[in-house]
Amino acid sequence: MVDDRPFIILGGELHNSSSSSLSYMEPIWGKLRELHCNTALAAVSWELIEPEEGKFDFTLVDGLLEGARKHGLRLVLLWFGSWKNGTSSYAPAWVKLNLERFPRMRLRSGETTRTLSCFSEEACNADAAAFAMLMRHLRQVDGEEHTVLLVQVENEVGLKGAARDYAPEADAQFHAPVPAQLVRHLTTRTDTVPMLATTRAEAHWKERFGPVAEETFMAWHMARYIEHVAEAGRKEYALPLYVNAWTVQHKGDLPGVYPSGGPVAHMLEVWRCAAPTLDLFAPDIYLPDFPAECALYARPGNPLLIPEARRDRWAPANVFYAIGQHDAIGFAPFGVESIGSKQAPPIGQAVQEVLMDMEHTEVGDMLSNCYRLLGDMIPVLTDYYGTDTMTGVLQTGSDVQNVRLGDYVLRVKFHSQGEFPGAGILIADSPSSFIIAGHGFRVEFQPLPGMLPHVDFLSIEEGNYSAGVWISGRRLNGDEGIVHLGETPSVIKASLYSYA
Ligand code: DGJ
Repeated sequence: MVDDRPFIILGGELHNSSSSSLSYMEPIWGKLRELHCNTALAAVSWELIEPEEGKFDFTLVDGLLEGARKHGLRLVLLWFGSWKNGTSSYAPAWVKLNLERFPRMRLRSGETTRTLSCFSEEACNADAAAFAMLMRHLRQVDGEEHTVLLVQVENEVGLKGAARDYAPEADAQFHAPVPAQLVRHLTTRTDTVPMLATTRAEAHWKERFGPVAEETFMAWHMARYIEHVAEAGRKEYALPLYVNAWTVQHKGDLPGVYPSGGPVAHMLEVWRCAAPTLDLFAPDIYLPDFPAECALYARPGNPLLIPEARRDRWAPANVFYAIGQHDAIGFAPFGVESIGSKQAPPIGQAVQEVLMDMEHTEVGDMLSNCYRLLGDMIPVLTDYYGTDTMTGVLQTGSDVQNVRLGDYVLRVKFHSQGEFPGAGILIADSPSSFIIAGHGFRVEFQPLPGMLPHVDFLSIEEGNYSAGVWISGRRLNGDEGIVHLGETPSVIKASLYSYA
């Protein structure tokens, strides 16, 4: 809910550095509007708001608020504090240069990393103090207007290169008893995390958690650190707070290949216990098996927010699926300002991203059409959130998918052969009337076993929503009498009856 109205974040996350310059941002705001985004996800870095210890500069934050408001957009701010993708590149110079006061994690070899230690009280307090100032400032300048909807605390945290920190202070903690609070939590939640089942009586991390001891240990300590930061911010301004995950990219990858200690799916219960101030754990999904990744995070008590997603031809399909299937509260392709860009993306981007950009220059138009359609449907869609009368379909694997909804089986046949995979949202408005939105598929209706055997349409209607209100288009009861969603995203309403 935003200002007492249901809201779905149809977002775009900016490249990491875009929001560090207000003039660089100028053309980007317009682009976000063209894409029909309603929210921008933008980084705010510790180094730029506290360049000298205790001296804060919120010029950039204020400029982002102004830019967003001027363009009718909301913001999700990403706090690039102690950690960003397993390193500490956005910590201020006065932190980076003082390794004695702000120690780093160490690899097994003893090598010092670029990652601030999660065992450093000094670092934790300094980060928390800065984050609290940011949140205080947001309350002062945006407490009424609510431009900022939520704040991400740090970014894709964890340690790369080792399963745990091997610095002396970390060693000492690794040999200390597992906190009773965590043991208690896990013994009540083992159904969801079998690998963390902890029935053994021994007290230390290694003894208790065996092969997952190091990762569990890191997850606990990273989460405790972030809890302290989040709590300090929450005291200043009660916005929802979340963390995002660099998820496991290949089955069997070991912690350290992906950042160890981050909120990956199998560590969520550790995080939940250690960081109760966090409202959400959000996956960054670049992997091709989008449904599987969503399912890992769309759990009771954890509404699905996807703050980073591919910005290629899958983006328009994935947003339909995330909303229809999982009642997602938000979706955002990463590097949104590069969508559809024919120009070379900013220097330093990963190779696969470059490919994602160059491959499909029409992605921008398609995503814009999808976001426009979904934006106008927000009040309708959210009516069905939390019910079992809405579902999502996505053209992965089979080209035919059967969905049981209302009094019928909906046989979804994807016909998209071209650029954009098909996807849609199916809603049973009543047991025999349906709202179907999306692109690249048709739907046939079949009776459920035991029901009257023949099915026919009372009506099929095309149309569109405007601010949640249905505006009818053609009545399609003649030659066109079929629920067919073409290559451009659209909505159809179909009403059925059965006869003997
Ligand atoms: C994941 C990170 O969280 C983002 O900040 C960005 O670096 C992307 N990867 C790049 O693909």
